[in-house]
Amino acid sequence: MLGLAQAESIKISCGSVGQELELCKQAAEQWARKTGHTVQVVATPNDASERLALFQQVLSAGSDKIDVFQVDVVWPGLLAAHLLDLRPFMHGVEKQHFPSFIANNTVGAREGKPGRLVAMPWFANAGLLFYRKDLLDKHGLKVPLTWDELTAGARKVMQAERAAGNERLWGYVWQGRAYEGLSCNALEWLVSHGAGTVVDADGRVSVRNAQAALALKTAAGWVGTISPTAVLNYAEEEARGVFQAGNAVFMRNWPYAWAPAQGPESTIRGKVGVAVLPRGSGAGGRPAATLGGESLAVSKYSRHPALATDLVLYMTSAAVQKERALTGSFNPTLPALYRDAEIARVNPFMAELADTFTNAVARPTAISGPRYNQVSNQFWNAAHEVLSGRSAPDDALTRLEATLQRLSRGGKWN
Ligand code: GLC
Repeated sequence: MLGLAQAESIKISCGSVGQELELCKQAAEQWARKTGHTVQVVATPNDASERLALFQQVLSAGSDKIDVFQVDVVWPGLLAAHLLDLRPFMHGVEKQHFPSFIANNTVGAREGKPGRLVAMPWFANAGLLFYRKDLLDKHGLKVPLTWDELTAGARKVMQAERAAGNERLWGYVWQGRAYEGLSCNALEWLVSHGAGTVVDADGRVSVRNAQAALALKTAAGWVGTISPTAVLNYAEEEARGVFQAGNAVFMRNWPYAWAPAQGPESTIRGKVGVAVLPRGSGAGGRPAATLGGESLAVSKYSRHPALATDLVLYMTSAAVQKERALTGSFNPTLPALYRDAEIARVNPFMAELADTFTNAVARPTAISGPRYNQVSNQFWNAAHEVLSGRSAPDDALTRLEATLQRLSRGGKWN
């Protein structure tokens, strides 16, 4: 085979948080060695919203600059028109992945029509609470079950530790920058307060309610007290940087933050626990994790669609997903790998928090489709205004409701 086919170069763009880029390169190079082709890994911004803007630019220009894209679970509806249907190339392996993930990545399915599978699942995400076991033990605290407990615990540990000379310690770090990651955090605050999902499954704009206002008010209260003011510009890696340096008691992040915390060089190795995020106090409160995750898609404008698709097949295979779970704590999208003893030993949270992953809350993409990014953009801006003290929760939510009503034509979304 090798001698006959011409060697081609395939360009793949993956994310770059934690060990993402390194692991992407490794697996892509394994594929290149196996097939005799070459790969070029295109680095993209860390910030999911900046990455989307870049991809939209490349794709809407019909450019072949990137063959394989790492796409967020919230993007299939936005990018589908530019992506190939992968189903014919997958020889049925898509059936081994979580059906909900496959459904998320399928567009245009109707009765009798399977629709187009525009991306193959690569790893799953859910928002998690990382905490410092050693500090909670030292100060006689339990893992917080409610946001009030988290706030009080964070304050207690911070005060005591700072008084003892640990002056750089913060209570809680999370993602407060005005981007998609804030929509993920803010959705968790809302759902954990029984405040709905901004837009309900039936299309109704539900965001203006007292519990949502309380949720945002609570989060705004953290800024400058238990969270540094700089959290207003934190994405995943900024939060992880502070936590990884030993300077935070609690952190909200995705599973990828586990592997580096446990790394041989890590100052917090063996001191970290992972739990479900807290719930709001009061009726309707329940712990909530936003569902995230990433897939691999092939551009319609690729000059090497068959090879690009073969690379996707390889990258999303059980062998590569297992390697990524072991080295980078990326949650597989293949249920069978959750029965793998090695993966479970290295990442105990994957089994312990199985319910958190199963019950993770989807962002309202199914109903808003191609308008999801506008919905999210309005939501994260409203949340950011409240967090930075520029708007009162009620005012921000009233304006957000009006904008989303317009955008959805009164909740009809047609
Ligand atoms: C992670 C998640 C993705 C989410 C993003 C927000 O990349 O996989 O679903 O949109 O974080 O920052």
